[in-house]
Amino acid sequence: MRNNEMKKKIVIVAGARPNFMKIGPLMHEFIRHKNIFNTILIHTGQHYDFEMSEKFLKDLNIPKPDYFLNVGSASHATQTAKIMVAFEKVILNVMPDLVVVVGDVNSTLACAIVASKLNIKIAHVEAGLRSFDRTMPEEINRIVTDSLSDYLFVSEESGLMNLKAEGVNSKKVYFVGNIMIDTLLSKMNIIAKCNILNSLSMRDKTNKLKLKTYAVLTLHRPANVDSNESLTKIYNILKTISQKTKIVYPIHPRTKKMIKKHNFLKKFELLNNLIMVKPLGYIDFIKLAKDSRFVLTDSGGIQEETTFLKVPCLTMRDNTERPVTIKKGTNYLVGRNKSRVVRHVDYILNNSNKRSQIPKLWDGKTAERIVRIIINSCNTEERRK
Ligand code: UD1
Repeated sequence: MRNNEMKKKIVIVAGARPNFMKIGPLMHEFIRHKNIFNTILIHTGQHYDFEMSEKFLKDLNIPKPDYFLNVGSASHATQTAKIMVAFEKVILNVMPDLVVVVGDVNSTLACAIVASKLNIKIAHVEAGLRSFDRTMPEEINRIVTDSLSDYLFVSEESGLMNLKAEGVNSKKVYFVGNIMIDTLLSKMNIIAKCNILNSLSMRDKTNKLKLKTYAVLTLHRPANVDSNESLTKIYNILKTISQKTKIVYPIHPRTKKMIKKHNFLKKFELLNNLIMVKPLGYIDFIKLAKDSRFVLTDSGGIQEETTFLKVPCLTMRDNTERPVTIKKGTNYLVGRNKSRVVRHVDYILNNSNKRSQIPKLWDGKTAERIVRIIINSCNTEERRK
C-alpha cells in the first residue's frame, strides 16, 4: 500500500438526485482500489430534501459525503455561482489530482469550470450525449462540461459520434457503457424483495396496484411544468389516460410547487385513477417501474432504466439525448400532443411489447472500466516522469 502522500486524490462530485445512481458504483470501485486512490466525496446540496438526496445515499450505500456545500435552490446563475464559490474553497484545500463529475446538472457544470480554472484534470461520466436543444439547461451543461474535460466517458454510441463531430480529440474519449446499469444490476436482489406495490395499495385501499396493470408517471422539466399552458396540456392528457389505467405519480418538489402556483393541485387530486405520492427512493421507484405496464416521463435516466428493464417508456419531450433507447430500447418519443400520447398508450395497452435490445456495454462493468482507464493513465504519467 502506498502512503497517503503518494496516493492519487480523487474528488467525486454529486449534487442532484440523478447523480447518486451514477456516483455509487464509482465510489465503490475507487474505494476498492484504496491502495492507489484517496477518494473524497463532495455533495453540493443542489438537492437537499430527504427524499431527493439522503434517501438515495442510504439506498445505494454511498458513504457520507466528506464535504456538504449546502447550496440549495436558486436561479440557474445564482445556483451555479454558489456552487462554484463553495467548491473552489474546498478544492483549494484538497488539491486533488482529478475531479470526477457525472451527468448534466448545474453541479456538474459548476464544478467542472472550477476544476479547469485551477488546472485540475476532469473526468466526465456520461459525456457526449446531445439533445441538440439549447433551450434545455442540461444541454448547455453537457456541452460546456465536455469541452473542459480530460477524460470523456461515453455511455452509448451516439456520444462517440457527437464528440467526433465537435472535434474532440479521440484520445480523450472512452466508450465505457452506462454507469447507471451498474447500480441497477447490483441492486436487483433487493429490488425483487421490495414491497412498494403493497405499501402503496395499503395506503389507498380503493386503488390496489397489481402487477403490469398500472402506469408510472414522472414530470419535472420546465418545458412541461412551468407554465399554465403546458400544465393544461399535461392535465388534459392525464385526464384521458387515467380513464384507461391507474397512474402512480411520485411528484417532484419542483412540479408540486408549479402545480400549486398555477392552481392545478385540486384538479390533479380529483382525477380518480391518478395516485400522487411523495418522491420515492431508488429501490421503491425502480420496483414500481419494473412492475408497471408502462412509464410516462420527461426524465433522462428513466428512459435508460426502462430500456434495461424492458418496460415500455413514453417520453413526453420533443427530443432525447439518449437515442439508443429509441433505436434499440423500449422508448417512444411522444411530445405533448394529446392524440399522439393517447395513441401510444392505447397501442401499449392492447399489444405486446416491442422487441428491444440492451445497448452495448450496459453490463454492470462500467465503473470497473473507468477506474481501470484512470489507473493505466496514472501509470503512464508516472513512467514519463
Ligand atoms: C435538476 C436537474 C435536472 C434533473 C433533475 C432531477 C439542473 C439544471 N437540472 O432539476 O437535469 O433531471 O434535477 O431531479 O441541474 N426542490 C426542492 N427540494 C429539493 C430539490 C429541489 O424543493 O431537494 C425544488 C425547489 O423548489 C427548486 C426546484 O425544485 O427551486 C428545482 O430544483 P433544481 O435543482 O434547480 O432543478 P430540478 O428541476 O430539480
